[in-house]
Amino acid sequence: MNFTYYNPTKILFGAEHIASIKNEIPTSKKVLVLYGGGSIKKNHVYDDVMKALSEHEVFEFSGIEPNPTVETLDKAVNLVRSNQIDFLLAVGGGSVIDGTKYVAAAACYDGHGWDILEKNEPVINALPIGSVLTLPATGSESNSGSVITKKETNQKLAFMSPLVQPKFSVLDPKSMETLPERQLVNGIVDAWVHVCEQYITTPQDAMVQDGYAEALLKNLIQLAKDFPSRSTTPNWNDNLMWTANQALNGLIGAGVSQDWGTHMIGHELTALFGVDHARSLAIIQPSLLRNQISKKREKLNQMGKNVFGLNQSDNLAEETINHIEKLFHSLNVKTHLDDYGMSKADAVKQVIAKLEKHGMVQLGEHQAITPDVSEKILDKAI
Ligand code: NZQ
Ligand code: ZN
Repeated sequence: MNFTYYNPTKILFGAEHIASIKNEIPTSKKVLVLYGGGSIKKNHVYDDVMKALSEHEVFEFSGIEPNPTVETLDKAVNLVRSNQIDFLLAVGGGSVIDGTKYVAAAACYDGHGWDILEKNEPVINALPIGSVLTLPATGSESNSGSVITKKETNQKLAFMSPLVQPKFSVLDPKSMETLPERQLVNGIVDAWVHVCEQYITTPQDAMVQDGYAEALLKNLIQLAKDFPSRSTTPNWNDNLMWTANQALNGLIGAGVSQDWGTHMIGHELTALFGVDHARSLAIIQPSLLRNQISKKREKLNQMGKNVFGLNQSDNLAEETINHIEKLFHSLNVKTHLDDYGMSKADAVKQVIAKLEKHGMVQLGEHQAITPDVSEKILDKAI
């Protein structure tokens, strides 16, 4: 193994930590608080954040949508530039945090920020960011990734830079009490697929990465089982929030091969048809695993035994994939394109064209998922 592991985000876990934001941002800073459609005003979060920042000069930017768009975020970039704002505080789910990362980089970029995503222009400078997380799912609160949509062209692209990784993040499980069931389920599914993208690849005898990934997957199975009784299950919210964070903070992916094919195909489904990020993954993952089974058999066997507690058999890998699909179904998450009102002929053709446009032509840990293979995966996801 050969890797550098460094995660500089300070995690402040628990609702009472919103108050400590004031110690994390110097009072000399002009702070922009960025948020979404207003969920933070339906719980304690907005009031607590404003109270914590009562000694700072504070600006606000609201209306960052799920699957945040460059069209909206560019307005925040203008606000930052015209007021010389020098600290960004994202308050919300993955979309608000990803959007804030874009603003942080675009405000310091000489040109249109979208070039960072579309033309892979490097991020050389960015404003510092903090976050208050209210939806456990993406891991964006302590990683360096951001996924942004351009509405005009139906593109959903990602960029990564250590410069936009939050300096600190408050993880507030209490804020989850206002989350609709759909978003909680999305969180479980997204975190699940994040672990799988870094685990169901090639066997590499990485005891720490594998063992930790298996622990996180078992957590998610247990949290899904307890989903109907979550309000009386001790620490259910806390455990989901911490599990989803650890699923994509760099640790289990350090030094091992990674797939991310499900995500790349899923992003195109979301950009074209508006299906929730997590649901796009539930459509693609089982089909992709079945398509790639010969390359992933050993890890699927390991997962079957260590995560689902299945016995050795000739069909263990196939059974493991069936169990993954059953897990999604147990949460009422549909796993077929037509369940979401997408017509197969249309969807497949459009997704393949977008994957080609975005250079997503050699996906997966073996770069074996060419557009032809993606087409077969989508065909079977009907
Ligand atoms: O906008 P508000 O009013 O805040 O409402 C949001 C939104 O409607 C609501 N919500 C959030 N916290 C709430 C709440 N409602 C009630 N109570 C609360 N406590 O939930 C809705 C969805 O929010 P969103 O942020 O879109 O969800 P999520 O956290 O799942 O983020 C999805 C985005 O993250 C990207 C996805 O592609 C998608 O754009 N991803 C980012 C990654 C990363 N940066 O590492 C990795 C992921 O794979 C993913 O691609
Ligand atoms: Zn994801």
